Amino acid sequence: MERLQKILAAAGVASRRKCEELIASGAVEVNGKVVRELGTKADPATDEITVKGKRIASEKKIYLMMNKPKGVITSASDPKGRKIVSDFLPGIKERVYPVGRLDYDTEGLLLLTNDGEFANLLTHPSHHVPKTYLATVKGVPHGSALERLQKGIKLEDGMTAPAEADYHDVDVDAGVATISITIYEGRNRQVRRMFDAIGHPVARLKRIKFGHLGLENMQRGKFRHLTLSEIKELRDAALSHNSHKK
Ligand code: URA
Repeated sequence: MERLQKILAAAGVASRRKCEELIASGAVEVNGKVVRELGTKADPATDEITVKGKRIASEKKIYLMMNKPKGVITSASDPKGRKIVSDFLPGIKERVYPVGRLDYDTEGLLLLTNDGEFANLLTHPSHHVPKTYLATVKGVPHGSALERLQKGIKLEDGMTAPAEADYHDVDVDAGVATISITIYEGRNRQVRRMFDAIGHPVARLKRIKFGHLGLENMQRGKFRHLTLSEIKELRDAALSHNSHKK
């Protein structure tokens, strides 16, 4: 929800001040009702907003991927003044939000869009879109521990769905291992909690794939627009239940 004058200005109707005048004059309707109060909030994605009877242009839909650095939060603002993802999106005027979150300490592939339907589609738990992470963990887990992750492991909020887990890099001398793990759910801090459950806490976590989309060699802190075929591929991954490994 956003203040009406801000929505109108963002849609290119006029300057913020001029939009306030339009509202006060009774020229603006929300869902068929005249709104004269300046503080009124509306949702440009779902409310029908008209100015002098003409519906305002809805915001152009944009789809981005970024390589989120660690130490950045995925919220729109932070009362503690920490860095937020929009700090890394110079030139993007649309208000985008993340498709599923990444923890403050997690880096890697983050999708961002202003298309709420697309975001819901990809994050809906029944759609099982695979997400792949590289988790650098303390100690070197035994094969049997990885098998527990693969089969499903008990967390406080229930069993996890089957996952894929494999060694990516092992440094026996340093006592650390990097495990590639693909999960089909998106519970809060899920990967960290799964490794906690096998006694190998995560020291570093990076998402390298979302559906078929890979981070490739995108530099940390950079972003780009998705191509039409990438957007379609992500939609298809959510809609086809073939992506669901059981
Ligand atoms: N799992 C986690 O533990 N953290 C993330 O940011 C994403 C998945």
